[in-house]
Amino acid sequence: MALHIIDHPLILHKLSIMRDKETSTIKFRELLREISMLMGYEVTRDFPLTYEEIETPLMKMNAPKILGKKVVIVPILRAGLGMVDGLTMLIPSARIGHIGLYRDEETCKPVFYYYKMPANKERFVIVTDPMLATGGSACDAITRLKNDGYKHIRLMCLVASPQGVEAVSEQHPDVDIYVASVDEGLNDKNYILPGLGDAGDRIFGTK
Ligand code: PRP
Ligand code: URA
Repeated sequence: MALHIIDHPLILHKLSIMRDKETSTIKFRELLREISMLMGYEVTRDFPLTYEEIETPLMKMNAPKILGKKVVIVPILRAGLGMVDGLTMLIPSARIGHIGLYRDEETCKPVFYYYKMPANKERFVIVTDPMLATGGSACDAITRLKNDGYKHIRLMCLVASPQGVEAVSEQHPDVDIYVASVDEGLNDKNYILPGLGDAGDRIFGTK
């Protein structure tokens, strides 16, 4: 497993605005979309290229094109949805799968409620969820995808706790994790500190 911390100044600046409790739902959503696009640049950095002959208005050339990486973006509902638009701006041909999981408020364990994926198991999967707290939701989502036959999986989060990173690395050592920040830890309700609060509520304005 590799942990990629994408701490570009533009991303960190936008994340700081997201963390601020005074930031509105509209702004929060917009910033999450922008950061997801910027992070997508790194998540796709090692996609292999092939060369095809084309003709510019001046001459022929061997032009680099992405070599058949068929991508499926898989948001963990709900909050992962907020990262989809930024990625589809970069990869417009990507398919979108969905995994429905919510954290039980008492136990903090993930509860599964929805699963829908495109048929082609060879697709390269990018799982999105802004928050990697205990890691339970991400681990369960990845297990479900693997059981269904998907092999090439990456996890893209915005903010992680050290515990969440450790949980995913232990259970899924083959999955690379991309985050903008690994924060200090978790509080007694397993919320990330300093974090940004409840990502789903802040994206969808449900609090
Ligand atoms: C949040 C978040 C992750 C999960 C992280 O979702 O979006 O999916 O919690 O916590 P974990 O790493 O401890 O599992 P939540 O359960 O609040 O659901 P929601 O997105 O529908 O609001
Ligand atoms: N889910 C969230 O939305 N935020 C956290 O800090 C932890 C879990």
